[in-house]
Amino acid sequence: MAISRPHSRLLLLLHAIFALTTQAAARGGHDRSGTDDRNLGSFYRNLLQDKPRITEEMVRGYMSNHELENAIHAFGSRCPNISRIYSIGKSVNNFPLWVIEISDKAGQKEAEPAFKFIGNVHGDEPVGREVLMLLANWLCDNYLKDPLATLIVENVHLHILPTMNPDGFALRWRGNANNIDLNRDFPDQFFSINNDINYRQPETKAIMNWVNQERFTASASLHGGALVANYPWDGTRDKSKQYYGCPDDKTFQYMASVYSQSHHNMSLSKEFEGGITNGAFWYPIYGGMQDWNYIHGGCFELTLEISDNKWPKAAELPVIWEHNRMSMLNLVASLVKSGIHGRIFAADTGQPIPGSVMIKGVDSKVNASMTFGDYHRIIAPGEKYEVIASMEGFRPKATRTVLLEGESVNLDFILDPNGPDGKMKLLRNHCGCRCGDDKLFHMQGPNLGLYLLVSFVLLILYLLFKRKSASRLLTYRYSPRRPIAV
Ligand SMILES: *[C@@H]1O[C@H](CO)[C@@H](O)[C@H](O)[C@H]1NC(C)=O
Ligand SMILES: *[C@@H]1O[C@H](CO)[C@@H](O)[C@H](O)[C@H]1NC(C)=O
Ligand SMILES: *[C@@H]1O[C@H](CO)[C@@H](O)[C@H](O)[C@H]1NC(C)=O
Ligand SMILES: [Zn+2]
Repeated sequence: MAISRPHSRLLLLLHAIFALTTQAAARGGHDRSGTDDRNLGSFYRNLLQDKPRITEEMVRGYMSNHELENAIHAFGSRCPNISRIYSIGKSVNNFPLWVIEISDKAGQKEAEPAFKFIGNVHGDEPVGREVLMLLANWLCDNYLKDPLATLIVENVHLHILPTMNPDGFALRWRGNANNIDLNRDFPDQFFSINNDINYRQPETKAIMNWVNQERFTASASLHGGALVANYPWDGTRDKSKQYYGCPDDKTFQYMASVYSQSHHNMSLSKEFEGGITNGAFWYPIYGGMQDWNYIHGGCFELTLEISDNKWPKAAELPVIWEHNRMSMLNLVASLVKSGIHGRIFAADTGQPIPGSVMIKGVDSKVNASMTFGDYHRIIAPGEKYEVIASMEGFRPKATRTVLLEGESVNLDFILDPNGPDGKMKLLRNHCGCRCGDDKLFHMQGPNLGLYLLVSFVLLILYLLFKRKSASRLLTYRYSPRRPIAV
C-alpha cells in the first residue's frame, strides 16, 4: 500500500544524479512547438488554423460519444450500489456532460474528501476518456477485493467526467464546437481576458458551477502530448517563463510525485526531473482550469499529461491504462492516507460549523463543509505544521506543532464563540485550561479529554432536541480520536 515504490525512488535518485551531470533541458514537450496552442499565443482562446488531422484509421477502436454515453449508463446499471450517474450541463452542441460518482454512499453527503478526474479537455486528446472508463470499471470489479479499491470506495467520493469536450472529440480537434480552447477559458488571476461571462463557453460554465457546488479536495485533468504531472501556477504575472510556485508548492510537488512515482516510467523522464513540472516553468498559460480550481474552489488540481502521443492507436490503450493505474489509485487514496483531516464544532451548541483551516506560514485556506464541518487538508508529509481553525464570530484556535509522518492525522477543533463584547463566553470555565489566552488547542492530555467530554454532552443534548439532524451527524467517519484506519 506504499504510495511510492522503493525501486522507483532509487531509479529517481539515479536519474537525478544523471541529470546533474548532463544538464537536463527542461524546455517542454518535444512536440510542443507548432502543434500545441500554448505557442499560439497565450491570449488567443480561438484556435487558428486548427485543421482536423485525425484519420479514420486513428479513430478505430475508440468509443464514439454515443458509445461513451452508453458505457457510462451501462456502468451505472452494473454497479448501482457504489455509483450515481449525473450530468453537470451540456456542450455547445447539446451533448450531456455525464459524470460517474463512485462511493459506497454516492449521492449522499458524508464527512469525506471528494476527488474529481476530468478527461478529454482537449478534443484531440482522447486517451483520458477511455482510461477513466477503465478506472471506473476496475474500481467496481475490485471493490471489497482489492484494499485500495475498497479504501477509495469507502472513504472518498470520486467523481469522474470522462469527457469535458465531446464536441471537440467529434470534430477531432482541440477546442470545443466554437473552436475555443477550454483550458484557456477560465477566469485568470493575472489578466481579465476571460472575465466576461457572456463569452464563457458552456463546458467551462458547467465545470465552474460544479466546483462551486461540490467541495472537491483535489482533482486532476487528463491530457496527452507529453508524459509529466504539471502543477500550479500555470501562469506568471509578467508572462515570463519561469518557476512560479503557489503557496502550496510543496504540497503540489508531493501530489505530482505521488502520480509520477507510481507510474510505469513517468518519473524517469529526461525532460522533467522526477516526471513533474511547475506549469509556468514549462511554459506559461492563462485562463487554465488548474489555477482557477486552486484559487476559487480550494481544490488542488493537477494537469496530467499521460501519453507522449496525443492520439495513440486504440490497441495501446490497455497498456497506457496499466501504466497509469497505480498512479490514479494512489493519487485518489492519498486524500485519505495523508494530510490533516477533522471537523470543526461550535463550543456553545456542539454543532458542526463551516469554518476554515490554515497552515501557519501557508497563505491558503481550506474550508470545512456546511453539513458536517469536516475539512480535508492535503499537505506534504515529513514536516511539522501548526494548524489554525477559524470562523467568523468565533475565536480562532491553533494547534501545537503537529508532525505529519507517513499517515494522515485527525484533528478536530471546538471553537468558542465571541461574546457580545468580542470575548469568549460559556465554556471558558469548564475548559480547565487557559486556552483563551494562548489560543492553543492541546491535542493530547487531560484538558482535551475534559473539553471533548463537555462538548460531547452538549452535543447529545442538542441531538435530543433536534432529532432530525441526528441521523446526519451519526454518519460521519472522522469522529474525534478515531484515526482513519488505513
Ligand atoms: C447491492 O446491495 C444489496 C444490499 O446490500 C445487495 O443485496 C446486492 O447484491 C448489491 N448489488 C450489487 C450489484 O452489488
Ligand atoms: C515509457 O515507456 C514507454 C512504453 O514502454 C516508452 O515508449 C517511453 O519512451 C518511456 N518513457 C520514458 C520517459 O522512459
Ligand atoms: C471559504 O470560505 C470563505 C469564508 O466564507 C469564503 O470567502 C471563500 O470563498 C471560501 N473558499 C472556497 C474555496 O470556497
Ligand atoms: Zn491538453
